[in-house]
Formats: sequence, C-alpha cells, structure tokens
Amino acid sequence: MTEPAPWLAAKQALADDLFGEQDSWPARAFNRASRHTFIPPRALHAWPDRSTMDQIDLAADPDGWYRAVYSDHVIVTQQDKTGRSTSSCSQPSMVFAMLTQLDPQPGERVLEIGTGTGWNAGLLAAYLGADQVVSVEVDVDLAEQASGRLRAAGLPVRVITGDGLSRVPDEAPFDRLISTATVHTVPYAWVQQTMRAGVIVTPWRSDLDSGAILSLMVAGDGASASGNFTDIGSSFMSIRTQQFTAPDAPTNFTELATTSVPAIGPEDLFGEHAKFAIGLLVPGCLSWFDYNDEGLIDTVWLCAADSWAALHLATTVHQYGPRRLWDEVESAYHWWVEQDRPAYSRFGVTVTRRQQQVWLDTPDQIVTKTDA
Ligand SMILES: C[S@@+](CC[C@H](N)C(=O)[O-])C[C@H]1O[C@@H](n2cnc3c(N)ncnc32)[C@H](O)[C@@H]1O
Repeated sequence: MTEPAPWLAAKQALADDLFGEQDSWPARAFNRASRHTFIPPRALHAWPDRSTMDQIDLAADPDGWYRAVYSDHVIVTQQDKTGRSTSSCSQPSMVFAMLTQLDPQPGERVLEIGTGTGWNAGLLAAYLGADQVVSVEVDVDLAEQASGRLRAAGLPVRVITGDGLSRVPDEAPFDRLISTATVHTVPYAWVQQTMRAGVIVTPWRSDLDSGAILSLMVAGDGASASGNFTDIGSSFMSIRTQQFTAPDAPTNFTELATTSVPAIGPEDLFGEHAKFAIGLLVPGCLSWFDYNDEGLIDTVWLCAADSWAALHLATTVHQYGPRRLWDEVESAYHWWVEQDRPAYSRFGVTVTRRQQQVWLDTPDQIVTKTDA
C-alpha cells in the first residue's frame, strides 16, 4: 500500500475547517490548486496573535512546513530591508471570503491585482480556466516565480509585471476584478477595466484602521462603482504606492505641543466599529501605541505628515502641527455616537473619475470625499 503524501492530512483538515461537507466551487478549487505548491521552501509563518513570525523550512522541517502551509494563517514570502512584509500568501479563510464576494460565474474573465505567490490566481483558474484569468504583480521576481508555479500546477494564468493601480492588460474590460493588496483610495482605472454591472472586490483601509473588504458594483453607464464594506478585520498588506510610514516625532515634541485634557479615552476609540468610522473621517492619520511594563497602553500616538498628537495614560493630550489630530479624532467619535454608533457594514464607497466618496447607508449620504 502506498503511503499518503505528507501534506494530505493537513490539507484535508484545513478543507474541513473551511468548507465542511460543502461541495462548492471554492472547495473544489482548494482541492485542485494545492496551497503548498505555491509557497517557497523557506518562508515565515505569521501567527495572528503574536508579534513575531516563525521561520519555516521545507528541507529542515517538512512536517512543520506543511503544518504552517495548511494552517488558516498568512505565510509571509518576502520582506524589505527594514523587515516589513512585502508579499505573502494570504489567510485562507479571508481568501475564500473574498472569492465568495467576487462570485465569478463560469465563462467570465477576472483580473487579479497582486499575484504574490500565485495561489489566488490558481484558485480562480481552477474554476474558470487559466485563460480566463489575468494577474498583475508589481515585483518582477515575484511575477516570474508565480508564473512558473502556475504553469507547473497546470494552471498557466497570464501574469503581467506592472503597477496594478494603472490600466494594464490589453484584455480589459473584465467581468470582475479582485485586488489582494489593500488600498485607501480605489483607483479609477479599476472601474474602467471592469464591465458595466461588473464587480470589484478589494481590501480597503484607512491609515488609522486595519480595514475591511470593499465590494463594489460598476454602474450601468460604466462611469462609477459603488458598494458596501464587508468582512472587517481583514489585514492585507498595502498596495506599494499607497504606503505611509510615520516619521519620528520631534525630540522636543512635548515642549512644542499644546496640552489639554481628553474627553474620551483609548477604550472609546478602539472599539472595532468606532475605530473604523474614525479612520474614515480622519484621513491620512496613522496611530499606534506605546505600552508600559505591565503590557498596558501608556501612550496612543497619532501622526499625519507634520502633525502629531499623543494621549498619555488617558489623562493628558499633547498636539503639535497644522492639524489638531486629537481634536479631529474626538469630533469623529462624537459624530459616530450621534449617528447611533453605526457598524462598519453600514458604510460604503462610490468611486467616480474625480472622487472617492465614503457614505453612510446610501450613496447620497456622503460622509467624506477625497479627490482622485
Ligand atoms: C498579499 S500579497 C498577494 C497574495 C496573492 N494573491 C497570493 O495568492 O499569494 C500582495 C501582493 O500585491 C503586490 N502589489 C503591491 N502593490 C502592487 C501594485 N501596485 N501592483 C501590483 N501588485 C502589487 C505585492 O508585491 C504582493 O505580492
């Protein structure tokens, strides 16, 4: 009797978790496009509840490698010199949540932005056929590797090297477009590359919050796309040209800053739905925490270009720069409370040639807009 391949049990266990008894196209695609054939032999296993990642090495520890690859976790496949993750194979449950939102139909053509390892493109190709899928990857090496893996898996998707924010493939328009890298502004090129009544699914985040999945439908006249947020807590890496790194605060920040007493504390701000809404209303603002020795939040930092704010021990606020970031955050919080604390899924986005409009409940109730 032949021994089962070492990955079969791990793959089956993840399939059971993701799909149960269901016989759906995602379940069949998962079976056909095996995740392990898309992951490089050496990579990083990102645990959701840990700040550090584990090295995985197929040659040194095959069991550990397969366990990681068939966990419902992100596998990071590339980092830059600063250690920031620049490519990964996304979390399987989130991959399938997005593919379910995309809802491609047999015979349709799909454009993917962010090829990464090629796994998501492989899943789409397993269902639609490889010639129905085109994928764009900004990184030359990643694009070549993914293309090779897709060919080896018998799913030869056309992989284009380029910036997926611009209009790339000649084959446009597509029936559906999926991005696997996060945007804070949906490029109008995506609307132009998608057919009328076609669907665009992308992770979307404000700078303050980790974001949600945005599912848009292109209007009947093809001029705009509109839709709601779904699946909060998605944490995809940002599209490369929409990343923002906070500079260091001025060394004499507290001397330069004005001091005030906060009306709200971190617990008000960082509830899931409040933070999402505040992120929508306070654009371009990053936030992070400093912790004390007991692991409790000591300082909440806010930064947008040359403006800074810090909330210390929930008792004192320092603000410095042209934007009064803490005041903006407090007003956004009060607005959210006045609106009866709407959940993230009540918000949506409309993308036109000129603007990205964020709205509450209906597209005419615009909450904030940014120029394209
Ligand atoms: C989360 S990974 C993609 C996961 C991938 N779909 C998979 O199945 O492995 C995001 C990818 O988007 C790529 N990316 C970032 N900015 C891009 C851009 N402007 N155009 C095209 N690809 C981009 C990154 O290089 C990275 O490989």
